[in-house]
Amino acid sequence: MRLTRREFAHSALAAGIAAALPATLFSGCGVSNAARTATSASAASHPAQFDSPFEIPFPKGFFWGATTAAYQIEGAWNEDGKGESIWDRFAHTPGKIRNGDTGDTACDSYHRLSEDLALMRAMNLNSYRFSISWPRLQPAGSGPANSKAVDHYSRLIDALLEARIRPFITLYHWDLPQVLQDAGGWPNRDTASRFADYVELAARALGDRVSDWLLFNEPLTFTYEGYLDGTHAPGRKSIFDFLRACHTVNLAQGAGFHALKATRPTARVGTALLMSACEPATDTEDDRRAAERADAISNLWFLEPALKGRYPEALAFFPETAIGIKSADFDKMRAPLDFIGINLYYRTIVSAPSAMERLTNPQQWLFPVKMEGGQQGPKTDRGWEVWPSVLYDVVTRITRDFNRPQIEITESGCSYNDGPDANGVIRDARRIEYHRQYLQALARAITDGADIRGYHAWSLLDNFEWAEGFSQRFGLTYVDFKTQQRTLKESGKWYAKVAARNALPAST
Ligand code: FCB
Repeated sequence: MRLTRREFAHSALAAGIAAALPATLFSGCGVSNAARTATSASAASHPAQFDSPFEIPFPKGFFWGATTAAYQIEGAWNEDGKGESIWDRFAHTPGKIRNGDTGDTACDSYHRLSEDLALMRAMNLNSYRFSISWPRLQPAGSGPANSKAVDHYSRLIDALLEARIRPFITLYHWDLPQVLQDAGGWPNRDTASRFADYVELAARALGDRVSDWLLFNEPLTFTYEGYLDGTHAPGRKSIFDFLRACHTVNLAQGAGFHALKATRPTARVGTALLMSACEPATDTEDDRRAAERADAISNLWFLEPALKGRYPEALAFFPETAIGIKSADFDKMRAPLDFIGINLYYRTIVSAPSAMERLTNPQQWLFPVKMEGGQQGPKTDRGWEVWPSVLYDVVTRITRDFNRPQIEITESGCSYNDGPDANGVIRDARRIEYHRQYLQALARAITDGADIRGYHAWSLLDNFEWAEGFSQRFGLTYVDFKTQQRTLKESGKWYAKVAARNALPAST
């Protein structure tokens, strides 16, 4: 279940890493000053603090977007030469997905490009973030491109350009070709080279018309949930697989970046990271230290290798041999990203286990970190706390610690399962409120100096929410999964007005 990623250090490090590795390996955890500042700033923020009696303008040329991912919307899982992905295999395994749902058809977007395009136009979007299915483009995980896939994505890109909507491509949103999983998957470092080949293939096929690319979507989510927690594809539960998968992804990020730049030197290349403010539960030294470690694993584990050629100091106790680090790897992981993509939904409250917990639980003695979602704000139907100031906190912190990088908000959104009323209208006022408040926080961060280029709502459509199947609706558009009929929700209409004015309406 997705909530588990918030409890990452608690469950993963307590249940896995500590159990699998000798105690001596866990001594000497470093403390990063950047993390210290980051974790202490935001605890007292209140959701309404960014309200404004005036309209709030956004910078000229700001990208108003929405995001989707191939497996969550495309369907056509075995059509036109597409290869099997780890998500096809996982969803077809009984018991893995809520209600036995699969992405076999999902939103049928593979066959409904023009309907999806019409929604984007109706919402006045000028950016659409979508992912390419690796096994659709390169079914064997190596070798030539599938021409039908190239045609498909070309049609989408051409239609977007025609509609003056920026195509913003994610190269990997979790659907590894199953053949590559059979060869070891992400824990196999050779997958980094496979990824670089695939990136080059995609850049050659589509890069004449696409300038903005994301290498990965949320590396920590798919490595953790796929290789340690087992709740996502490929459903593995191994601490060593997890650590090695993380390292391969960091290598792949470097290799993919250089492959893309070599093929398309003017491309703008980033990666989309799930971020969260890791707030210490109390002001004690132990909780603050735990929060620094949580911050390192949540926010920096895939960013510092790219931008600084190192792993975060607070996690320096992960043994290099278990991770599989070789001497030249730190250079290979470097990827001077043109921008940082931030997916942001909630904050994380971090505490150190009590002395008794640590004494009775050797795992918590070894990695004393407990993480949970905040409890003060309202909850979405997914159980995630709505806490807008977290967006301000994270964005200003990244701006400060990484020398004012360009930032794209690549995802933010909420699950509310409101359906059509008697007149067919979907009155999802809570979703409007969510985006309004998060955008207010973002506007304040821009005023305070952050270089934010765009905001992408998750999601364009209600879709297949991974292990939750179709039980969670995040869309600005309602999808009737029986008929595939799409209906703009009230939030979609509201977003259309904001995008058209390039401004947030005054708070009433
Ligand atoms: C993000 C994922 C996206 C979707 C939303 C709700 O973490 O990137 O695919 O599942 O959560």
